[in-house]
Amino acid sequence: MKVVVIGSGYVGLVTGCCLAEAGNQVVCIDHDAGKVATLRAGRLPFHEPGLDELLGAQLKTGRLSFETSIARAMRHAAVAFLAVGTPSQSNGSANLENLLNCVHELADTAFEDCTIVVKSTVPIGTGDRIEKLLNAKHGASAGQPWVRVASNPEFLAEGRAIQDFRHPSRIVIGANDARSADVLAELYAPFSGQGDRLMLMDRRSAEFAKYACNAMLAARISMINELAGLAGSLGADIESICSVLKSDTRIGAGYLHPGAGYGGSCLPKDLRALINTAREAGEPAYMLRSIQRVNLQQGQRLLAAIQDHFGGKLRHRRIAIWGLSFKPGTDDVRSAPSLALARGLLEEGAMVSAYDPVAMNAARQALGDTPAVFGDSALSVCENADALVLMTEWEEFKTPDFGAVAARLRGRMIFDARGIYHASALQRHGLRCHRLGERTEGPPACEPIRLRQTAATHAEPRPLG
Ligand SMILES: NC(=O)c1ccc[n+]([C@@H]2O[C@H](COP(=O)([O-])OP(=O)(O)OC[C@H]3O[C@@H](n4cnc5c(N)ncnc54)[C@H](O)[C@@H]3O)[C@@H](O)[C@H]2O)c1
Repeated sequence: MKVVVIGSGYVGLVTGCCLAEAGNQVVCIDHDAGKVATLRAGRLPFHEPGLDELLGAQLKTGRLSFETSIARAMRHAAVAFLAVGTPSQSNGSANLENLLNCVHELADTAFEDCTIVVKSTVPIGTGDRIEKLLNAKHGASAGQPWVRVASNPEFLAEGRAIQDFRHPSRIVIGANDARSADVLAELYAPFSGQGDRLMLMDRRSAEFAKYACNAMLAARISMINELAGLAGSLGADIESICSVLKSDTRIGAGYLHPGAGYGGSCLPKDLRALINTAREAGEPAYMLRSIQRVNLQQGQRLLAAIQDHFGGKLRHRRIAIWGLSFKPGTDDVRSAPSLALARGLLEEGAMVSAYDPVAMNAARQALGDTPAVFGDSALSVCENADALVLMTEWEEFKTPDFGAVAARLRGRMIFDARGIYHASALQRHGLRCHRLGERTEGPPACEPIRLRQTAATHAEPRPLG
């Protein structure tokens, strides 16, 4: 099948490469000529594990090519995906400017029988709007449309995007006509597990499903963060509480890890957009607003904890930050909690030295207007720092040489915003650990209590006392 993918970012490029690998003829389009040249040369403009090999292999087969012009690519296309960015506007709504530019370009293009598929995350009703716009341009009526528009929201996660695309947990197809549903079911046949993973529904429901998923994930993150804060101030240990929560099959184990709050290119913007949609629909959206507020507060909690440690005075304190991407496995720093923390620290007069194994370029751009400095290794940013903050749990930060860290740090405190360090490992080197949600009474949360002779305890339970 000939497939056009408009927008060659994280989503568009992964989609294009994986569909080419499945045997389709794919043209990926981007309006950024520099990006297209980079991709044609087999290089990636961003970090995504395994994607460079896949890109190279698919370019070699001749099934994958890159273009800047929609009009040139559309000839004989059976499916055209719209996968351009839909960032937040100042009022929280999704900015559809890029998407609508593409739609206008499509409207001016002559093409054959082709299903237009919206893969970008878009407000509910956008598919209706695009279909109307395209058909109006060609004088077609709703009863006899010139073109059909379907929704196929993307659920891949950066850092494991190829795996997610090749083995999706579900493929959501929102189509208001059988032809679009059929053509997409055929295209996705290699990924849909005999069709078991296909979820067919109307277009608006598919658009909403994407927002619903992200709202739900954000809700879990904010809920566990709020519970962690509460547990800490009540002298309870959130790690132990999490293990109880995770063992409950009704609750499930995912996304129950207290941290610095959610970030990235999707959850914050999609939640804002859904709140805006709710406002337009006259719905109060109490929960959605609270999720957002708790997330904002979580970042402030971390800053406040660092401030408290220095008696409220951060001026001239040097703070090292490990990890800038919003999560490991990606160089995406969009809405990353690390950037908000760096800005907060700088505003309070602190000096920030930061390091990330892959997101340095993106972070340099994002913090280019600040005096933040960047080191070329994890240890180099610790040199004479008054404290270290772990923001992204990259592998290289999981079991660092704490002795070498301690030798370089001026202060003794590590703020562990991802909850991965054990106090005992740090204590051996004279370091201390602060976790978000750490209890203020009782034994420190970083110190796990271990049962002696666990195996025997399991084999022969004895009454206590
Ligand atoms: N990144 C993710 O993890 C993810 C996951 C699921 C869904 N989504 C959604 O998918 C969409 C794309 O996200 P992304 O992260 O791939 O964005 P991105 O910013 O990485 O990529 C978008 C690409 O579109 C190009 N573009 C913009 N306007 C264009 C135009 N008029 N013509 C041609 N190309 C144009 C940009 O140059 C860019 O390369 C968004 O709606 C996003 O919310 C993203």
